[in-house]
Amino acid sequence: MSMIPDDKVSEVRERAAILDVISDYVSLRKSGANYQGLCPFHGEKTPSFNVNPGRGIFHCFGCGVGGNAITFIMKIEGLTFPEAVKFLAKRVGVIIEERPLTATEKRQTDERELFFRINEQAAKFYRRVLVQEPAGEAGRRYLERRGVDAATSEAYCIGFAPDKWDGLTRYLEQQRVPLPLAEKLGLVKLRDSGGYYDTFRNRLLFVIADMHGRPIGFGGRVLDDSLPKYINSPESPIYHKSEVLFGLNLAKQAMREQGTAIIVEGYFDHLALFQAGVRNVVATCGTAMTAGHVKLLQRYAGKVYTLFDGDNAGKKATLRSMELFLEEKYAAHVIELPAGDDPDSYLKKEGSEAFAGQVAKARPIFEFFLYDLMHQFDSRTVEGKVQIIELLTPRLMKIANPIERDLYLKEISRMLGVDLRQLQKKIGRSPISTADLASPPERKKRGIGPEEMLVSLMGKYPEVVKRVREYGAANLFGPDLLPVVETIMTQTDAGSEVDWGVIMEQVGSAEERSRLAALFMNDCHLEEIDANKAFDQCRMSRDRSTLKDKDVKELKRELAQLDSDSERYWEILKILDALRNKKSQLL
Ligand code: UTP
Ligand code: MN
Repeated sequence: MSMIPDDKVSEVRERAAILDVISDYVSLRKSGANYQGLCPFHGEKTPSFNVNPGRGIFHCFGCGVGGNAITFIMKIEGLTFPEAVKFLAKRVGVIIEERPLTATEKRQTDERELFFRINEQAAKFYRRVLVQEPAGEAGRRYLERRGVDAATSEAYCIGFAPDKWDGLTRYLEQQRVPLPLAEKLGLVKLRDSGGYYDTFRNRLLFVIADMHGRPIGFGGRVLDDSLPKYINSPESPIYHKSEVLFGLNLAKQAMREQGTAIIVEGYFDHLALFQAGVRNVVATCGTAMTAGHVKLLQRYAGKVYTLFDGDNAGKKATLRSMELFLEEKYAAHVIELPAGDDPDSYLKKEGSEAFAGQVAKARPIFEFFLYDLMHQFDSRTVEGKVQIIELLTPRLMKIANPIERDLYLKEISRMLGVDLRQLQKKIGRSPISTADLASPPERKKRGIGPEEMLVSLMGKYPEVVKRVREYGAANLFGPDLLPVVETIMTQTDAGSEVDWGVIMEQVGSAEERSRLAALFMNDCHLEEIDANKAFDQCRMSRDRSTLKDKDVKELKRELAQLDSDSERYWEILKILDALRNKKSQLL
């Protein structure tokens, strides 16, 4: 439930002209009724990103994304819906007074605010110690020794925890901060005997910020070789490690501009690159990459580079991340460093130009994996070949781009001297291929179908709205589009024209939104047609296609239980293929 009143959302929507909003991020040129530019969500050289100012919508024919001004801001700034509305409200001068919160909401927001403020206080304290107090001398010397300049230290708000038990504790007390709350953030700890003491002592402190730059935790490094090297804040109500990437707030803009992101392991890797002028960098900070991290990055960058240490642990981290990237269909490359180097040491030794060379030489992560296997096993022996193939095939199946997959197949066949057809057969029959079929890639690829056509007809022809109402909207549309259809009916009832900008927000899934945006971008194909006849056609082809969905499901269930050597197995594969082809021809 949005905390912003609906009329305010409408006001923002009306006042925020989509052309102005998007022009801040994309340089647009007029082309017919629309405006075109280079898509900010994927790297491209010829413009396929379109804005239709009349309808208040955008769509990219390259990557398929689409929506209205608010969803554009959500995607490009990485904000939630209410956040994006507030962001735009500020720019167009709409004042949003939020409705009074319920008691529980108030307690939760107040508490979260309080947590942020406590972390801000702590960050201020540590920063002051580092910058100006005698107790910070060791920290200042350490930074100097590592070549960290003042601007960088400032950008990261680096601090120093003094070498005593109650530095922060006493400061927080003076500021009247309730220490049990500071304890929940992991800043202080409770003694058995009662009384609190500082968690971070005699350590250089990195502030871990969320994507808006608010402090949510800390990472503290020792100044010598003692262990543990780092102490990090624990999970807390404002710090969820699986969703946070260090440095995102500093990298957001550069990732968006360049369309790429570099992932490093640690605080100092991040800092070294930042200081060398490389800004599209985030760090995982010792935790394993998660799907949440990938989703976060995908908002900003279409392609990712891993940059881990040039040692065995770095290689392992790279290969682990590959599994995730394949799973999430994220294009990934590997930047390699000489053995024994990490980004910091490499940049110090070789400089940023050499580093740029390493980036240019980055290999696709699957290729990295393939060559690693070749080293690991003896590809001249039968046993080695079999082992390599066993490890390769399940992952090969997950490569999203069929052409890329095919090229690897050829490469592997050549490298191992194995018959290409044998390999193809192996992949065709591997259990993952049926799993692949059972998952819904079809939906992803699904083009504009009868449901979408009906929606756009409704926008143009009142008689179609009438027919839909008679037939029953729920009988015609799935859950994604039903809310849209209801909004159109309400708008038509009120005697107003259909507002496609509003419609965009009613769509359940981003994917469906993109499909509709593509359709609404231009609907001259709907001019001068017999609306009633079109309605009947849409209705019938929808009935047909839902019938097929059912069949497909059943066939897939059968397929999953069959032995891949049986005749029926191949028969079903053929039927599924035929069905898929027919389906894409519908309409
Ligand atoms: P590294 O040991 O590579 O540290 O760990 P680093 O940041 O590169 O520091 P320098 O350059 O050696 O001084 C990589 C990351 O793993 C996490 C930290 O986030 C660190 O930045 N880590 C490492 C911990 O959380 N705890 C540890 O004890 C060690
Ligand atoms: Mn390191």
